[in-house]
Amino acid sequence: MKKLKAPLYEALIRFRRNDPVSFHVPGHKNGAVWGDVVNNTFRELLSIDVTELDGLDDLHSPTGVIAEAQSLTAKFYKVKSSYFLVNGTTVGNLAMILATFNPGDRVIVQRNSHKSIMNALFLAKVKPVFVAPIYDSDIEGYSGVSFANIKKAIEKYPDCKGIVITNPNYYGLSVKLTSMIEYAHKYKISVLVDEAHGAHFSLGNPFPTSAILQGADIVVHSAHKTLPAMTMGSYLHFNSKLINEDKIKFFLSALQSSSPSYPIMASLDLARYYLEELSEVGYQNIISNHLEFISQLHEIPQLKIVESKMKESVTDPLKVIIQAKSKTSGYDLKKILEIVDIHPELADSRNVLLVLPLAELKNREIIIKKIRMAVSNLPIGEVGKEKLTVTYDPISEVNLTYEEMERYPKRIVNLKESIGRIVADDIIPYPPGIPLLMRGEIIKQSHINIITNLIKQGATFQGNEYTIQNKLTVFQL
Ligand SMILES: Cc1ncc(COP(=O)(O)O)c(C=O)c1O
Repeated sequence: MKKLKAPLYEALIRFRRNDPVSFHVPGHKNGAVWGDVVNNTFRELLSIDVTELDGLDDLHSPTGVIAEAQSLTAKFYKVKSSYFLVNGTTVGNLAMILATFNPGDRVIVQRNSHKSIMNALFLAKVKPVFVAPIYDSDIEGYSGVSFANIKKAIEKYPDCKGIVITNPNYYGLSVKLTSMIEYAHKYKISVLVDEAHGAHFSLGNPFPTSAILQGADIVVHSAHKTLPAMTMGSYLHFNSKLINEDKIKFFLSALQSSSPSYPIMASLDLARYYLEELSEVGYQNIISNHLEFISQLHEIPQLKIVESKMKESVTDPLKVIIQAKSKTSGYDLKKILEIVDIHPELADSRNVLLVLPLAELKNREIIIKKIRMAVSNLPIGEVGKEKLTVTYDPISEVNLTYEEMERYPKRIVNLKESIGRIVADDIIPYPPGIPLLMRGEIIKQSHINIITNLIKQGATFQGNEYTIQNKLTVFQL
């Protein structure tokens, strides 16, 4: 590795080396207050948990090492500016939407977005138009949105001010965005991308292409998801000619703590250094190592490795989706692996998702042995449960403003009675965890047919306990 260049991290370590006496916050005084009461690992962590001290700069008005670290990040990602976030992509999504849109603006939004996007739409009081994602039959789940549907939405709502995309999805499936972004920019429509799971995409092939290189105005990355950064560490990258950057600065400052965590910020500085280093020395050995791991998984008779064959999508090689070759659900398979201390990222009714490190996998043989042992008693070849099917309206809008939704009382009605009324809560069948109805949308006969079928098949509905009793909450207008 070439000489480490991470100005914020280095300043923090230099500061720590001098055994500083703390007459400042935080109250643990570099961990000293705890003495031997807490274990060394925790006390060591506290020793770099400092505040805006001389030489350590200020996230909200950076002129020193934080400014330098952020500008190295912007240079690496090839954007106008990068901002360090200490409250994850959640705060990046909130800030980018609040900064870009005014109340009442029409905004096209991918339906399977994270709740931080949905909360931001509500706080910004915009008028969302939801666009359904593409179904991927190999992974039995939804991926990104198609350019064709976004184009249709723009044609239907030519007054729209922006598009909010989530790409890749949790499973690493990524769709091409270039044509969509070029088309939107022709009409001065800005494109904001939640690329939480793709902070490493800027490395290039074989990783999917980052939305930054495809021309997006703002891209938010959870550095902590795939880079070696601490939990809550994210980046917001600004690269727009359409959006006022001062508004981004204002909202980041308004929404984030005035006492941001130095360990998190230093880990963001280091994560950028790590990527820069990989892009210079190459990462082919990491990819080869992962391919060998995957081929070893293929050899386990009880497991199936699921790969998307959709021409529209590219899969992130850090994501591996496995299924049991039996009716064992993804949830059960995950539990079986946890017994041998193999901890996957998540599970759904069919799949278990493994997130591989952006490094060679240590102890690969031992890991494979443990997985083999864990699944050895699973049957092979029994047919799984019939898949729950949910279809979404390709394009749909809400029929009340968020202000109106706050004003009108709610009422519980039977499914049949609800047709033609406006739903008052998001109806989220699980799986797949994507809202079938978003609050403010009109309930149609087709929705009721789907809900009735799902209830018969044993689906659950997140946060809406009335649905399985054949009831929905509606606004009383
Ligand atoms: C697509 C997506 N966006 C945003 C977030 C929120 O990210 P963070 O945990 O960094 O706040 C997540 C978290 O899982 C996510 O999956």
